[in-house]
Amino acid sequence: MKFISVQQALDKKRGTVSLRGWVYRERKLKDKIFIVLRDSSNIIQCIIKKEKVSKQIWKDAEKLTIESSVELEGSIYKEKRAPTNYEISVNKLKIIQFAEKFPIPVRKQYLSPELLLDYRHLWIRDPKMTAILKIRSTVFDAIREYFKKQGYYEFHAPSITSGVAETGPTLFKIDYFGKPLYLTQTWQFYAEAGIFGLEKIFTIAPSFRAERSKTSRHLAEYWHAEVEAAWIKLPELLDIAEEVVKYVIKKVLQTNKKELEFLKRDTKILESALKKKFPRITYDNALKLLKEKKSMTVKWGKDLRTIEEDKLTELFDTPIFVTNYPKEIMAFYKPRDPKKPETAICFDMLVPEGYGELIGGSERDTSIAELKKSLKAAGEKIEKYKWYFDTRRYGSVPHSGFGLGVERFISWICHLEHIRDAIPFPRTMARYWP
Ligand code: 4AD
Ligand code: MG
Repeated sequence: MKFISVQQALDKKRGTVSLRGWVYRERKLKDKIFIVLRDSSNIIQCIIKKEKVSKQIWKDAEKLTIESSVELEGSIYKEKRAPTNYEISVNKLKIIQFAEKFPIPVRKQYLSPELLLDYRHLWIRDPKMTAILKIRSTVFDAIREYFKKQGYYEFHAPSITSGVAETGPTLFKIDYFGKPLYLTQTWQFYAEAGIFGLEKIFTIAPSFRAERSKTSRHLAEYWHAEVEAAWIKLPELLDIAEEVVKYVIKKVLQTNKKELEFLKRDTKILESALKKKFPRITYDNALKLLKEKKSMTVKWGKDLRTIEEDKLTELFDTPIFVTNYPKEIMAFYKPRDPKKPETAICFDMLVPEGYGELIGGSERDTSIAELKKSLKAAGEKIEKYKWYFDTRRYGSVPHSGFGLGVERFISWICHLEHIRDAIPFPRTMARYWP
């Protein structure tokens, strides 16, 4: 038997086919048994007729359970009533394993989110998760493809760090041969050393945040796509952020039409994001817009909260850039803007439909004195950053970079209710098993 995929069988439309996969659904009647066979490509209805198969095959078929693994051969034909419009009349069936009773119920009303998380190792084979994971795979490909095409090198930083960080309080501490060390929150500080040899670099790697937030946007471990480049200033950095986001959306729309349809994703907003230039507004203007159009007052100097980001993005049908946040509330490396000294040369990209901040980035402060001042103001230990200051001592150049939360991007592309479904095995405050 030469096996083909379910999708290849559907494309073939007629003739004899050999398939292998898992029993997604089964229905047993007196003299015929229906199974829906699932593999990584699609599902197809199969019918086993008592009068057409051997006694042994019929006996096996009667014992078939959900998620049993099988090989089968049969003839395929059009059948409008079948879920994917084709059916296979089975003549050979080989059971690879009779599955034990599958703990996840078939009927949707019993699918509580907690149950699905407890059985995550079994749930990720479900067609909904499979559709999301296929899109996830495209997103990773597309990010890498975009940067490679633009001449960037892939560069790697350690996941275990001595404590250089975005924000100290959200570091995960680990026991490193008896010494306290930390899981990385960002690749950036190592990247800022990397640009002196490679100039244009990117990565896609896990980042860790010990944030005590139980929201649909926060993971304790997420995949972080980051970029750092020498010589680049803020306007050009925004161009790169806009281009990579558009590149990924375009690639998903091309590659994953079937999956987006399966997820019932209305893709209008994604298409509109491709056609338009993303608006660029300052923090000051964002406050003005919130006041005028949404009757919301934000005190100058406060960060935008989720609710304010959501209201602001409702005014647009594309992602937007908000630049020049107040310097005092920004990470220590975001430089003061000489043209607007109370603000930093930085940006966030906010995306529509309530998905909020997708990207954060900035130019990097090159002044050691300024860096030290900001670190002290933030209550950080200067000694931890000793090696980092060296990156400003030997041929320092202007440079910039940003970080994009890959699961946030997937959540928005797929219009997921919760970020945990954008990753196979989510880590949140309450969830670390399986
Ligand atoms: O805004 P953040 O904290 O920026 C940095 O870490 C910079 N050092 C990046 C850089 O310039 N190289 O994080 C960047 C992005 C956010 O915009 C968000 O999309 C994502 O990372 N992110 C999270 N995603 C999921 N769960 C969390 N807890 C996240 N925290 C940040
Ligand atoms: Mg941020």
